[in-house]
This record gives sequence, structure tokens and C-alpha cells, in this order.
Amino acid sequence: MRARKIQLSGFGGPEVLQVAEFEVPALGPRDVLVRSHAIGVGWPDVYVRTGTYPWQHLFPMPATPGIEMAGRVAAAGAEVADLQVGRPVYVSSRLMGFRGGCYAEAMVVPRDVLVELPGNVDLDVAAGLAYYQLAVALLRAAGAARPAGWAMVSGASGGVGTALVQTAKAFGYRVLASVGHDDKRAHATAVGADAVINYRTDAAAAAIAGITGGHGVDLWLESFVGPDFGQVFRSMAPWGKVMLYNAVGGHPAPAFFDDWRAAMGKCVSVQYFSMHVYEDDPQAMRDLLSAAMRLIVDGAIKPPAGTFFKLEDAAQAHRLLESGTNRGRIFLRP
Ligand SMILES: NC(=O)c1ccc[n+]([C@@H]2O[C@H](COP(=O)([O-])OP(=O)(O)OC[C@H]3O[C@@H](n4cnc5c(N)ncnc54)[C@H](OP(=O)(O)O)[C@@H]3O)[C@@H](O)[C@H]2O)c1
Repeated sequence: MRARKIQLSGFGGPEVLQVAEFEVPALGPRDVLVRSHAIGVGWPDVYVRTGTYPWQHLFPMPATPGIEMAGRVAAAGAEVADLQVGRPVYVSSRLMGFRGGCYAEAMVVPRDVLVELPGNVDLDVAAGLAYYQLAVALLRAAGAARPAGWAMVSGASGGVGTALVQTAKAFGYRVLASVGHDDKRAHATAVGADAVINYRTDAAAAAIAGITGGHGVDLWLESFVGPDFGQVFRSMAPWGKVMLYNAVGGHPAPAFFDDWRAAMGKCVSVQYFSMHVYEDDPQAMRDLLSAAMRLIVDGAIKPPAGTFFKLEDAAQAHRLLESGTNRGRIFLRP
């Protein structure tokens, strides 16, 4: 059987994402053939495409990006007795050692790394589970020892930001969202933010003080950072925590430590988080996926509809992601 996938013709811009035909490998006894229904598109895929992923060695060329996909069982190996054809399943490359490969019409996946989905699950939603898994991981890592309080989600209209707003609400936080354009406010509100600020036009520290009644932010979730990030300490509550999960805006200015120290009376902590901390712990990854799935299946979280592109239009999907103008998640439809 032949199928199509996206393959990198080299590192570079979105145009290096090319359609390639391949012969689907024969199934081993414990393998499952999964027919893709929807494929999540995310920044790790962009980093793989540009050759800048810190775990690039896990994506040998010619690489096929994609860390998650939801689909249905199309065939199973002789020793796979518990998965019927048609069964909805989720493929996470994180459970396969971050080797990508999900930008494809079909994948052969070892049974043991396949995640079964509830029969009534919306596969378009399930294809975006990785960001809810990340959100659960971040919120658990932030600790739940104290009452949840106020969470600040920066970049709240993006894929992870949307998942964080919704998951933080499900964890009991009041959520303050920050966006860079007024036309993104409505999205942040629609997915559950209690208050929204535009960091480009609002005086952030004053706005946050006003919204939180002077209390400040208990948990600040951030992937931009940048030179002015030291200002975050002005807005933190006592014992507050800053969770970084990327720094696309670059390093904070050297005065960051001075800014931190100036707020020492508040005992604020800063933690840098990556899902790769679970690389050698697939059971923990599965537990996080299950927790995220439960929140969705139980209705505590209702992910907004994503933006879909055809598989062959993966380049357009990357252009939209890199433009920073998307709302929520982007997906490929094979
Ligand atoms: N640590 C981990 O384990 C992990 C796992 C997955 C993803 N991530 C990271 O999570 C981050 C968010 O991913 P995503 O898929 O949610 O991205 P996204 O949909 O593009 O959202 C990112 C948001 O950040 C804001 N932003 C501000 N300046 C930006 C810039 N220069 N470039 C891009 N965005 C900018 C944009 O909102 P405004 O215009 O409103 O500011 C944008 O909506 C990425 O950096 C990704 O690498 C981390």
C-alpha cells in the first residue's frame, strides 16, 4: 500500500515541506497501521524544519515532522488482539522518543506506544491533545499546595496559550490573559479568561494590580520572555511562581537578577519547564495524556475548533503559525 507524507527536502522555509509518496511498511506482529484523521501542527515542527530543534538528532533526514496525530486503526499485526479495525487512537511521537513522523496519511506504530481513545471522542479535538498534556504538566509542576489564585497566560490566543487558559481554569485558577493585539481579546475571553490585557497598549503592571485587587499574579506562564522580562516581578504575588516554557523573545536584560532581588520580599521562584523532562518516563507521559483527555471527555475543557489545512498545504500551515496571527491550534487533514 502506498501513502503520502510530508518530507523535508532540506532545512529552511515552509517551502521545504514537500509531499512524498512512500510504501507503507509491512506490519510486524505487534504493529498497528493507523489511518490519520487529523494531525497537530506546532512549533516543535517548525524547529525541526529549520534545523534548530535542540533534539534535532532524533529527526534524521529526510525527516517527516509532526509530533501528534489522531486516527483510526486500519490494520493490526498478528499478535495485536485488543484493537479492532476502526478503533480511534492517538499517536504521540513523545511516546516514540520524539521522532516525529505524524505528517502522513498513514503510520505504522508499535501497539505499545499507541493510545486508545474513548469511542465518543472527537478526533479533531484529540489531534491537539499534546498542548493540553503540556498544560496539565505545567500546572502540576507549578504545584497545587496553595489555593490556585491568579494565573497569567501570556500569548493566550496561541495554541499552548489557549490550552493553558482552559486548563488553568479547570485547575481552579482565575485567569488573566495577555495578548498582543486587540483583535485577539475575544478569543481569550471565549476560551475562558477572566480578564484580558493587551501588553502592547496597556500599562501591564497597573492593569494587573487593578484586575487582581493589588494581590498580583500567583502563577505566570510564559514562552516569550525578552529583554524587559524583569518587570514581571512587579506584578507577582507573594510566593508566586514564574513558569517558563520557551524564550522566543530572547534573554532578559542583565538586570533580570536585580529585578528579581528587588522583589525578594515576595519570595518569587522561576522555573524552566520542558516536556522533554519526561523523555525517559513514558508512563508519566501517558498519565498526563490521560489527565488531559479526562478533562476534555468530562466536559471540563471544550477546546475551540482548530484551523485546518490539507496535508499537502503543510507549508501554508507553517506560514500561519509563524505569523503569530492564528487563534488556538492548527491541524493538517490528510
Ligand atoms: N516547553 C515545552 O515542553 C513546550 C512544548 C510545546 C511547545 N512549546 C513552546 O510553546 C510556545 C507556544 O507555542 P504555540 O504553538 O502556542 O505558538 P503560537 O500558537 O504561535 O502562539 C504563540 C503566541 O506568542 C505570542 N508571540 C509574541 N511574540 C511572538 C513571536 N516573536 N513569535 C511567535 N509568537 C509570538 C503570539 O501572541 P501575541 O501576538 O498575542 O503576543 C502568539 O499567539 C512555542 O514557543 C513552543 O516552542 C514548549
